[in-house]
Amino acid sequence: MAYIFIEPDSSISGEIKVPGDKSISHRAVILGSISNGPTEINGLLKGEDNLSTMAAFRSMGVQMDEEAGGALIISGAGLRGLKEPDDVIDAGNSGTTSRLLTGLLAAQDFFTVLTGDGSLRTRPMRRVVDPLRQMGATITGRAGGAYLPLAIAGNQLTGITYNTPVASAQVKSSILLAGLYAGGHTTVIEPGVSRDHTERMLECFGAEITTAGVKTTVTGGVELKGTRVDVPGDISSAAFFMVAAAVTKDSSIIIKDVGINPTRSGIIDIMERMGMDIEIVKTHASPEPTANLYVKSSALKGITISGEELLPAIDEFPVICVAAALAEGTTTITGAAELRVKESDRISVMAEILTRLGVEVEEAPDGLTITGKETLKSAIIDSHGDHRIAMSAAVAALRSEAGIQIDNSECVEVSFPGFFGLLEETRD
Ligand code: S3P
Repeated sequence: MAYIFIEPDSSISGEIKVPGDKSISHRAVILGSISNGPTEINGLLKGEDNLSTMAAFRSMGVQMDEEAGGALIISGAGLRGLKEPDDVIDAGNSGTTSRLLTGLLAAQDFFTVLTGDGSLRTRPMRRVVDPLRQMGATITGRAGGAYLPLAIAGNQLTGITYNTPVASAQVKSSILLAGLYAGGHTTVIEPGVSRDHTERMLECFGAEITTAGVKTTVTGGVELKGTRVDVPGDISSAAFFMVAAAVTKDSSIIIKDVGINPTRSGIIDIMERMGMDIEIVKTHASPEPTANLYVKSSALKGITISGEELLPAIDEFPVICVAAALAEGTTTITGAAELRVKESDRISVMAEILTRLGVEVEEAPDGLTITGKETLKSAIIDSHGDHRIAMSAAVAALRSEAGIQIDNSECVEVSFPGFFGLLEETRD
């Protein structure tokens, strides 16, 4: 077990770039692998989650080579070119790998077994297994297919129209990937608009796809064509530096080329409402909009955040809780029950951590009420193996009495290799 100690009392400054977007990196590898011809990916995130996706496709016979300049070249196998892997596919800690691959594998003409680490094996899979079974998939697994490991016997699938009870890009993308292979059209209707990276990227790869608000339809049997993908910086990684700059004195940071897709940029809206001093200078528009973000020390105030507002900031819940703990007044977050089935139960873990840091917190089934204070207590904190919890605790440490020790800190490698080093570099 690795641990790290983060000292308090410094300001944050400089011009930084955060690693490539995790969600977009997964999709680039998946679509590149099942396209015809080469795909060149620039700025790919090589976090542990993405390495799991890459290993999965390599085990199905896809060739990937790194160029000297850092780009990854995938020699696409085509829609029907994947090969049966000769071992179990291990998605590690990655929910996106497990959910998206379940959809894709359900449509292959071979057998696979999909598993993951201790955390991933507790996370719900029925949300993808149920609709895929409706499409004709043969999937068995623990608790009737509710949890990994899953055994997937590929089948010819048929398109369906599916009303998903949960707004989840992983569920939507899993069904759309299966739909690429299914007879006819496959439509997903969500209760809210989740991140739309799959749809934007499918269009770039030549798929027949239409989106109208919460309704997305893909046509089966259309071959994809390899393309170039430029992965923007991950706003979910930038969020830690945005909040770090906002909550520390005399700070001013520039974060370059961050993806600001509106289905992901909720953190900007929420933090602006809390009083964050941010300037957004757009750098690129299509298919994924990007911007340079200029954030300065800010006097934050407590607000009320609904589930709808949190959806485009779903992964930023832990760091929003830290911002709330250092804001003036009370912040209430509701409609966030999904946070209980992420890499950890982020509602109860953040309640536990903030309590240790001397913050007044009230836990509800679907959220938290947090009363902010000037300085947090020092403590030893366990990340629970959750990368975003570990990084949020590091931000909290900057405004603690005498620093915070974060146990199990190595999990930051999942999405942000080099996070602690970059944080150190920005400290004055
Ligand atoms: C992701 C979607 C979100 C998010 C996760 C990545 C994706 O999960 O929390 O970190 O890449 O599609 P849900 O779709 O389950 O909300």
